[in-house]
Amino acid sequence: MLTKKKSVTEVRKKIAVLCRTILRAAWFSASTLILFSSAQYDKQGFAPNRARHKKRPMQGWILYRDKITAPEIASNAIDRLMESAEANGVSLKVVRPEQIDLVVNAPQPNQIGLDGDLVPLPDFIIPRTGAATSYLALSAIRHLEHLGVYCLNSAAAIAASRDKLAQMQLLAQAGLPVPRTMLAQFPVNLATVQQNIGIPAVVKTVSGSKGSGVYLCRTSAELEEVMMLIESVNRQAAVILQAFVEYSLGRDVRVLTLGDQAIAAMERRAAGSGFKANFSRGGDVLPFEITPEVAQLAVAVAKVFGLDIAGVDLLFDKNGFLICEVNSAPGFQGLEKASGMDVPKAVYDFLRCKI
Ligand SMILES: Nc1ncnc2c1ncn2[C@@H]1O[C@H](COP(=O)(O)OP(=O)(O)O)[C@@H](O)[C@H]1O
Ligand SMILES: [Mg+2]
Repeated sequence: MLTKKKSVTEVRKKIAVLCRTILRAAWFSASTLILFSSAQYDKQGFAPNRARHKKRPMQGWILYRDKITAPEIASNAIDRLMESAEANGVSLKVVRPEQIDLVVNAPQPNQIGLDGDLVPLPDFIIPRTGAATSYLALSAIRHLEHLGVYCLNSAAAIAASRDKLAQMQLLAQAGLPVPRTMLAQFPVNLATVQQNIGIPAVVKTVSGSKGSGVYLCRTSAELEEVMMLIESVNRQAAVILQAFVEYSLGRDVRVLTLGDQAIAAMERRAAGSGFKANFSRGGDVLPFEITPEVAQLAVAVAKVFGLDIAGVDLLFDKNGFLICEVNSAPGFQGLEKASGMDVPKAVYDFLRCKI
């Protein structure tokens, strides 16, 4: 009797253990299921993991001019990059250099002070400061670069290319074709200018853009007047004098390079009888076929400065081309119009390969 009771108790115990095991197993699978589904949910943007990192949009900043040295102006390039970002898997915002804390010994890796808060570092920045890059902007780019952020372009490349005299010096040194160029030293010795540059002569400020600091002096009397005027305003003005490339009167070629490729080009024609072909001055734009010669020359120019993106201006010459200038933050409104290329897409594809 006792043995029968004992065996019934044991059976009950075994059933209880079995039930507990089944319940535990059910609980385990349910929680695994919950965990699994919450991991999937992470993909929508919660817990950081490698898979999510690979799939999340690239985070980027456009670094615009600082308010201290430059007023707010409309920028087609920034508008185009912003409006195309989402469709290209990019989360993009515009940041001004003065918003960034430049603490050399950054306490937190992968973070940076922005408007007083620590925020994650972006994957890349696109400086849109060009020839007007201030000390502050250049320092901000260099800082982000040191923190491991990919910069399109680097601080060194922007610094090397923001001065037109420095451009001509480096290009000539690299054996690339440039118009005869010299620095204006006041008082200007006209005989020296005539001898080295000739008349007509193009007068340029070293850091102008959009044709605003470029003037063509057609006679030596006109050159003398202009030089006297500049000298009276600022004897230390940084101005270059350049041979006028007559063959290119009122037209030039703009080539856009990304890395070691010339991706688009256009011919620009000045409005009316003007000699400056800038699109921003109302010039016309036409499609231009990128010949191997043009591609090679434009890429060689970008390489001299280490520019990953560059707008290279070429002047037509009897036997080919002469380099007019290179821009580190090229606009692309005219280029998109003339070539039909989606430049922001090309930029984002390039960035994806770089980061
Ligand atoms: N040496 C030159 N000979 C002939 N045309 C020139 C010369 N330099 C500049 N230009 C014309 O003036 C335009 C503006 O000159 P550029 O040096 O590119 O200044 P910016 O940086 O303001 O665009 C050029 O696109 C070109 O059409
Ligand atoms: Mg130009």
